[in-house]
Amino acid sequence: MAGETMGGVRRIVVFDTTLRDGEQSPGCSMNLQEKLEVARRLEKLGVDVIEAGFPASSPGDLESVKAIAGIVKDSTVAGLCRCREADMDAAREALTPADDPRIHLFLATSPIHMEYKLKMSPEQVLDQAAASVRYAKKFCADVEFSAEDAFRSDPDFVCRVFGAAIQAGALTVNFPDTVGYAMPDEFGSRIRYIKEHTPGMEKARLSVHCHNDLGLAVANSVAAVRAGADQVECTVNGIGERAGNASLEEIVMGLRIRRDYFNADTRIDSTQIYAASRLVAQVTGVKVQPNKAIVGENAFAHEAGIHQHGVLVKRETYEIMTPESIGIPKNRMVLGKHSGRHAFENRLRELGLSVDDAAREQIFAQFKELADKKKTVSDRDIEALVMGAAAAVPETWHLDHWAVNTGSALGATGTIRLRHKDGKYRKLVSMGDGPIDSIFRAINQIVGKEPELELYEIGAITGGSASQGETMVKIAMDGRHWNGRGLSTDVIESSIRAYISAINAMEWELGREEERRQE
Ligand code: KIV
Ligand code: ZN
Repeated sequence: MAGETMGGVRRIVVFDTTLRDGEQSPGCSMNLQEKLEVARRLEKLGVDVIEAGFPASSPGDLESVKAIAGIVKDSTVAGLCRCREADMDAAREALTPADDPRIHLFLATSPIHMEYKLKMSPEQVLDQAAASVRYAKKFCADVEFSAEDAFRSDPDFVCRVFGAAIQAGALTVNFPDTVGYAMPDEFGSRIRYIKEHTPGMEKARLSVHCHNDLGLAVANSVAAVRAGADQVECTVNGIGERAGNASLEEIVMGLRIRRDYFNADTRIDSTQIYAASRLVAQVTGVKVQPNKAIVGENAFAHEAGIHQHGVLVKRETYEIMTPESIGIPKNRMVLGKHSGRHAFENRLRELGLSVDDAAREQIFAQFKELADKKKTVSDRDIEALVMGAAAAVPETWHLDHWAVNTGSALGATGTIRLRHKDGKYRKLVSMGDGPIDSIFRAINQIVGKEPELELYEIGAITGGSASQGETMVKIAMDGRHWNGRGLSTDVIESSIRAYISAINAMEWELGREEERRQE
């Protein structure tokens, strides 16, 4: 099982948990459409395993794991379960449509978790781990077992639990640093120890799953690869619980650029990294810090004169990889209002952006509208239009028109007219504390709901005063969260569009829940 190779080096399996560990962290929730779009991107990126969710955690999660399992063909689809039969039954149902399903079981093995959380003795944990793997194996050949908080567990106990899990049929055993406590050389030594002392280890893959509480998740993951780990668990942009998980793009590029050092690589298509990163940032509303390795805005920017000179003379003086290698599109100003459908579709292909026929029509119409307002439409503009359309939910409310009256001495008055999916128009005027507040209040009154505005962020897609404004909003109601995104050359309109898209995400999800209740 262990020791697969590619091109003469060890092949490391990439297990992506953006849709589970990433999505479950505060502020990163995604709706079904967004999850499907992310899953498609992950498959295109070439991840080996997509952890699609935790089916027993809610009917919505079960539904989304099932939907993802139905569309993904080239990656294994995993569902997370506690070591409980009810969880495994839910995962079994959710994974029915999958071509290549995996049940991912977890049970804590550290003294603190066993005593205070599980209230179980080590022997009970050992028995439950083995019994659960046996149960899952009845309906799923590919079972992974994770020893939660493994790094703070007694190493010999982890070896015993892993040995029992492998004997019961687990094909992967995963060693998480659940609380991000390990140091890289210490983590590497521990992985070596586990690999050498787990009975039957040659029949299974050894995986690692690192959290970033001390900023060392990637360092620990690659130290583990050096020490013999066969699989890494990670997320796009490193999103995840608290300080996040190990970042996929950093691990993948670390292994690729230093293949000589690791003697290992992954089957990831690195030219898809940038698009995946942008999509995850857009659908979660969690922006990538500018100085983030690989995908940050400044990752390939050279400010200092001496560096700029060096790069111009010979790129490799200051660049260890090219922007093209991770798929950063060159920002060419080539399309304008005279560009036709052919040129537009050609550019979509060049940018590696795939869209279905219905979305293509809508994006082309938006492109023409934008080209009328701006002289030139950049690749970044096109990418933003495509990303927005891809993950959009059906519209309950459509923006018809708006107007705002505002000034320094006056309050603001916003007028908005929306079209409901029933075809009827609703119009409202509202006062507010500034233009955005007045319009958002008017929208709330039309919709008849008053969600809390948790985040409102506005930025520019490209430089210059003619740039499109991109607004991200997060709204919350009854402890639930929804994201919305809006684009327009007018910042007020982009804000309105973002707010309506968040409202639509909320209406759509609540509507589906209501339908499920009535079934
Ligand atoms: O961090 C962790 O321990 C986990 C497990 C469920 C794998 O996410
Ligand atoms: Zn985790």
